[in-house]
Amino acid sequence: MNTPLQPWPYPRWIAHRGAGKLAPENTLAAFQLGHAHGWRMFECDVKLSADGLPFLLHDATLERTSNGQGTAGQLPWAELARLDAGSWLAPVYAGEPIPTLVTIARFCLDHGSLLNIEIKPTPGTERQTGEVVAQAAARLWQGASVPPLLSSFQPESLSGAQAAAPALPRALLLDSLWEGWLDTARRLNCVAVVCKYTLWDAALVASARAAGLRCLCYTVNDTVAAQDLLALGLDGLITDRVDYFDPSQADAVVVNASNGRRVERNA
Ligand code: G3P
Ligand code: MG
Repeated sequence: MNTPLQPWPYPRWIAHRGAGKLAPENTLAAFQLGHAHGWRMFECDVKLSADGLPFLLHDATLERTSNGQGTAGQLPWAELARLDAGSWLAPVYAGEPIPTLVTIARFCLDHGSLLNIEIKPTPGTERQTGEVVAQAAARLWQGASVPPLLSSFQPESLSGAQAAAPALPRALLLDSLWEGWLDTARRLNCVAVVCKYTLWDAALVASARAAGLRCLCYTVNDTVAAQDLLALGLDGLITDRVDYFDPSQADAVVVNASNGRRVERNA
């Protein structure tokens, strides 16, 4: 028997890492820019400092998106907080700090925005990262009408999140359909799967739906691909193209009238 789908409180369109590639990824400046473009749900990557504080960063190492060096998770927050996570993209963002999850939670709650927290553990800290991030999220969003969606490529992180904050919704991220993915999503009591967008077809949607799972994709930046994914009935599309797709149009791929008109940082 099919598992019924639960109500889904999240919008169809989700801005990847705050504002895709328009602003330094996973910074408050990116969230501000994404919001200025009309986006009301964001994805970000969260890991732990050496002293256990959740903060935003995609890579395990600091070099690509900051002026720091080495493995981010081996540094205490006091050192990470001093880094410049903006200059690598553009001089206008010089001095933009790495944000804590607390900072981003406050921004989202203050601006009526929803969040998909991707738990992105430093290798070797999978379960602990899931536990600590879920605990922090449960505390930060206590009493909020819509909780953050926790996702991860790492089942061990989702298992930690499930143990620490079972009421927060979880999603399994998939960059391939590895053996046992559906059983794993069921075992972790996930509400959704978030697949690399090229994996989706009608059969995969049917399998996920039959298991009561919502269907999301990352990272779709192409108009035709986005149209095909909407036609398949996907519940959520994560994209970098925050200046291109119109997030207010839930059921169609509409290119924003402001396409090409950059919303300035402090506009
Ligand atoms: O959470 C969706 C997407 O962000 C997963 O891939 O590498 O961009 O974090 P990545
Ligand atoms: Mg991510």
